[in-house]
Amino acid sequence: MKLIIDTDPGIDDAMAIAYAAAAPEIDLIGLTTVFGNTLVHQSSRNARFLLDKLNLPVPVAEGAHWAWGRDFHDPSVHVHGPEGFGDVTEIPDLDQNHHQPAAEYLVDMARQHKKELVVCAVGPLTNIADAIRLDPQFASNLGRLVIMGGAVFRPGNVSEFAEANIHHDPLAAQAVFETPPETVLVGLDVTLQTLYRSADFEALARQSPEIGGFLSEISEFYLRFYQDVAGEDGCGLHDSTAVIACSHEHMFETVETGLRVVQDGPKRGQTIPDPENPPIRVCRDVDGASVVDLFTRRVTALP
Ligand code: BDR
Ligand code: CA
Repeated sequence: MKLIIDTDPGIDDAMAIAYAAAAPEIDLIGLTTVFGNTLVHQSSRNARFLLDKLNLPVPVAEGAHWAWGRDFHDPSVHVHGPEGFGDVTEIPDLDQNHHQPAAEYLVDMARQHKKELVVCAVGPLTNIADAIRLDPQFASNLGRLVIMGGAVFRPGNVSEFAEANIHHDPLAAQAVFETPPETVLVGLDVTLQTLYRSADFEALARQSPEIGGFLSEISEFYLRFYQDVAGEDGCGLHDSTAVIACSHEHMFETVETGLRVVQDGPKRGQTIPDPENPPIRVCRDVDGASVVDLFTRRVTALP
């Protein structure tokens, strides 16, 4: 399966990219970057660093600096650390970004790999909305869009109502839900059922000292955040769960519904079922233990 991950790395993004590198059924052809957990230049630098570490020479196309209708962004430093990788703040700036901006690259790749390309969006949906706006054929050229975002049947994480990726750019999310490609939504409804605990990270680091060890090191900050905010020993495998859904949708229970996004007020970013918009598949339940187990089995095969 040809896959592009649209990402804001980001601790759980780094885990998702490592998973994609390890999964034999995934052919990761590139990354596109977006603001979100970090500023976009940090997302791109972190993406290039990870690809080098994973020995995957594929392009990184940089995308949106901020949300539709805004000209600034406040990164989630309290969740992902000042540079996106927790307490690890010295991140080499390796190689260069692809010459095309993310939306153009996505449009071209969807055209080139007609109906075969899967895009897994694990940050704000700005680049995806830009690609839909740039090319009216983008949605029909794409094989599938799998989104980590939203909280349809349960409370959010940035507020009682909203999940972070949708909250960062509600206008772009609304635009995607109005004219979606074939889409699967992997929201907090399922990603909070895939908790990765400190003991899981210890095992990962033991069996995969280089990659697992790095993921374990950057995750200490993330685990502290979950402990402080939710009293949990463990963090959601948010972005990895979405990448796993790209190839293992049978592990999820889905319901078909259109969605709309609340734009303003205290419920800004809330994802609400709306029959006026085209139906997408929303993941409602998952066997979390199987997702955690698959993630560990795959990533421990890395050095
Ligand atoms: C999502 O928000 C980001 O902080 C994570 O990387 C993930 O994509 C979870 O709400
Ligand atoms: Ca992310």
